[in-house]
Amino acid sequence: MPEIKFYKKDNIPMEMHKVKIVQQLTLLPTKDRLVKIREAGYNTFKLHNGDIFMDMLTDSGVNAMSDNMQSAMLRADDAYAGSETFYRMNKKLTELFGIEYFLPAHQGRACENILAMRFVKRDSYAVMNYHFTTAKAHITRLGGLVEELVKEEGLVSKSDLPFKGDIDLVRLENFIKEKGRENISFLRIEAGTNLIGGQPISYENMRQATNIAKKYNIVTVLDASLLQDNLYFIKTREESMKDKSIKEILRMISDLFDIIYFSGRKFGFARGGGILVRDEEMFHSMEDLVPMFEGFLTYGGMSVKEMEAMTVGFDESIEFDVISQGPQFIKYAVDELDKYGVPMITPGGGLGAHIDAKEFLNHIPQEEYPAGALACAMYICGGIRGMERGTLSEERNRDGSERLASMELLRLAFPRRVFTLSQTEYVIDRVKWLYDHRDLVGGLRFIHEPKTLRFFTGILEPIGDWPERLAKAYIEEFGLDQ
Ligand SMILES: Cc1ncc(COP(=O)(O)O)c(C=O)c1O
Repeated sequence: MPEIKFYKKDNIPMEMHKVKIVQQLTLLPTKDRLVKIREAGYNTFKLHNGDIFMDMLTDSGVNAMSDNMQSAMLRADDAYAGSETFYRMNKKLTELFGIEYFLPAHQGRACENILAMRFVKRDSYAVMNYHFTTAKAHITRLGGLVEELVKEEGLVSKSDLPFKGDIDLVRLENFIKEKGRENISFLRIEAGTNLIGGQPISYENMRQATNIAKKYNIVTVLDASLLQDNLYFIKTREESMKDKSIKEILRMISDLFDIIYFSGRKFGFARGGGILVRDEEMFHSMEDLVPMFEGFLTYGGMSVKEMEAMTVGFDESIEFDVISQGPQFIKYAVDELDKYGVPMITPGGGLGAHIDAKEFLNHIPQEEYPAGALACAMYICGGIRGMERGTLSEERNRDGSERLASMELLRLAFPRRVFTLSQTEYVIDRVKWLYDHRDLVGGLRFIHEPKTLRFFTGILEPIGDWPERLAKAYIEEFGLDQ
């Protein structure tokens, strides 16, 4: 479909679907939200969904399903082994990616576990544009190291670079030469680079990076969890690709890699995941890990209903009218906030609108987790749940010292086909209010700090009584019932 144009307005993102099933939302009064965030240990992962107005924590497993996805669920074939649902899913993946061998897994991190167990050795390096939390945790759990080689410009908040997820090719080759290819477990390229603002990587950069890896006989892995956004950006931002269909671009990307894994909670809009493996021998070398950790090889821990929905979801993940929705709504929010002066990660990427919390709350030292504090403030001021993507989401260094994140972000995710434009306007409005009252926000500290993936389960407390003072100012502005 062509992009819909307005007569009197510019740049209004348009929903290319209509709503058929709804979930009622409630907005708790501010004083109740203050209690809820305290009970959640100032960790937005620990809030109950019923206490949230706008859940912008993630796009994982919370994208809206289409009528076609839902109806496909009815034909799910339940069998412990040999489910026809699995063969339909495998066939669709082979058609799209051109890879025959497929290992199902219950979600993206399960694929990361399997890949780490197969390839990571103590003190070996997994080289990547940028890490994702769970990918890194599985690598470091096995004694491996992560080397991030995203181009320096990728870590600059305000930019107009179209592909901030690109890897630095010179550093990549130098790193391989310096460490020796035998000390490299694999090259991992993450499409739609999550932790630096959902920023895409160009096809050309993927091509050159995988060529370098091949020259040194290093296994190439694509994390395709956020590929749908990345496909949209390649089509709309990479000049040499603009005449290719999304399906063609997908296939060209796929042809570059030995292994492609994905979270089906994102790519496929359902709940599950899997690993595509080009080489038969390599596939067999990982096969036994699936029944051991996931489930039998024809379901891998997934519900067959979800697998059927996902099989339709794969086709929707390469439909332009579907995959353009997220980036267009995100661009709208990012541009509006940027115009107001809020420090945003620009240009808007996929996945969500990202606020530079280091800049937003520049009076809070990074050791006091400004992005975590901003996530709590956003919940108090509007019932909006975002996700901290900064120092809290890092693991400590081997010597126990704090590893300060290169980007300290609050992510406001836009689950696909879920929120309307007026809801988006509400979020923009509340971020603006918070920006104007940012001096009221203070830092956080841990009172219970888990060793691994501490952002999921850690318990924190505010430094000082800033949540109460912030809530008071918010109530003065909007009234008791908001
Ligand atoms: C880029 C990327 N890789 C891997 C994962 C892990 O996937 P899952 O949440 O299904 O375990 C995610 C999830 O957010 C992701 O964004």
